[in-house]
Amino acid sequence: MSISAPKPRDAFASTLGAFAATLGSAIGLGNIWKFPYLTGSHGGAAFVLVYLLAIAFVGIPILVVELTIGRKMRLNAVHAYGTVVPGQKIWAGVGMAGVAAAFLIMAFYTDVAGWVFAYVFKSFGAFLGGRTLDGATFGALAGGSWEPLLWQIGVLVLTTAIIATGVSKGIEKVTKTLMPLLFVLLIVCDIRALTLPGAGAGVTYLFRPDLSKLSASIVLYALGLAFFKLSLGMGTMTTYGSYLPDSTRIVPNATRVALADTAVSLLAGLAIFPAVFAFAGKPAGGPGLLFNTIPLIFSKMPMGGLFTTVFFVLTAIATIGAMVSLIEVPVAWIIEKGHVTRPGAAILTGVLMFALGIPATLSQNPLLANVKIFGKNFFDLFDFISSNVLLPVGGLAIAIIGGWFLTRKGFAAEMNKGYAEEPWHGRLVYGIIKYVTPVLILLILLSSLGVLKLG
Ligand code: PHE
Repeated sequence: MSISAPKPRDAFASTLGAFAATLGSAIGLGNIWKFPYLTGSHGGAAFVLVYLLAIAFVGIPILVVELTIGRKMRLNAVHAYGTVVPGQKIWAGVGMAGVAAAFLIMAFYTDVAGWVFAYVFKSFGAFLGGRTLDGATFGALAGGSWEPLLWQIGVLVLTTAIIATGVSKGIEKVTKTLMPLLFVLLIVCDIRALTLPGAGAGVTYLFRPDLSKLSASIVLYALGLAFFKLSLGMGTMTTYGSYLPDSTRIVPNATRVALADTAVSLLAGLAIFPAVFAFAGKPAGGPGLLFNTIPLIFSKMPMGGLFTTVFFVLTAIATIGAMVSLIEVPVAWIIEKGHVTRPGAAILTGVLMFALGIPATLSQNPLLANVKIFGKNFFDLFDFISSNVLLPVGGLAIAIIGGWFLTRKGFAAEMNKGYAEEPWHGRLVYGIIKYVTPVLILLILLSSLGVLKLG
């Protein structure tokens, strides 16, 4: 493998800092909003089981490849993939597809993050007024026009401002202190939800798989979620890998990130499904799941309104680390490509993301509610194309590059930095990257080619 000499660049100061930043990108709406709602609309435990397998055999190996290539190249994603295989510029396409995915994801991500920020204020208002937020509140917000758009603009302005000033130590520090708080609050929710009468049905739903529910579509969605969850297949982790210190041991670090991230998703599921079964008798899927259940769960306990507010504050904070890492992919490329300053690149990206976000946000508004492409509204379409097409295809290319286009020696030397000799897990992961991950992704993509048409 011929590699351009690393240039002096910004970097994470320590392995702990690198762990926090990587985890900060991974943890977000994917855990608290998307994992529960996809589980609810795809048959519960069968979906969870496939998801866990996808994390182990696809997610962790691709995270390893991305961090390894990123650290080796010390470049933004487009330039990293464009130069990692000597003489084969074509792989820059992986980085460009990643930039496209960043725009599509941000279009709906900022919509949902806007709902979360709105809920911070709505739940606090309800707490002060002694009320409980109900389903009507969410329906009015998501189906509105100016209100969700203004929240979306607010979220974008906030993230763009952070990116414009650089990913400061401030945000890293804030996420590092507040992540443990999110854990604690999730556990409080779990205890409350699990002690509700009838909670057992929710636990069964989450953990006892009914394998007859499996289908090509479920497997595709689980794979897509694994990519989305660990911010894979689009260059985010490649970019973060380019800031990794040489002393970081990549395989253990990637494994820890995946485990912590999965734990947060399962904790969120354990908070939501027992409550759903206790209150409603069956899981109603859909993007409103989180917004309809959390206020209900908390309303059953003393100071519940206040806890609801705190919960949404923490969720809001979790979205920031993820959004920052999403915007950073195009911004880093624009800066390193042209003569654009960081604030200029950030503003340009933010404005384009908002333009693409409008149809996603209005997709539940009567104005656009009936506009369907392949049977999906804009929100679902952007989500589907990014998570279930662009990220897995990008991931497939990344696994093939790592396993087949780079020399084993060069790749392993970077991946196993920090060890005197090749550790057993280095050999294991390399074998999976080469022979298992690409085959699995390819099989899943092929077997689900009909999914888009079936809706
Ligand atoms: N991993 C983030 C989440 O779960 C979303 C994300 C996807 C972030 C892709 C960066 C890149 O919320």
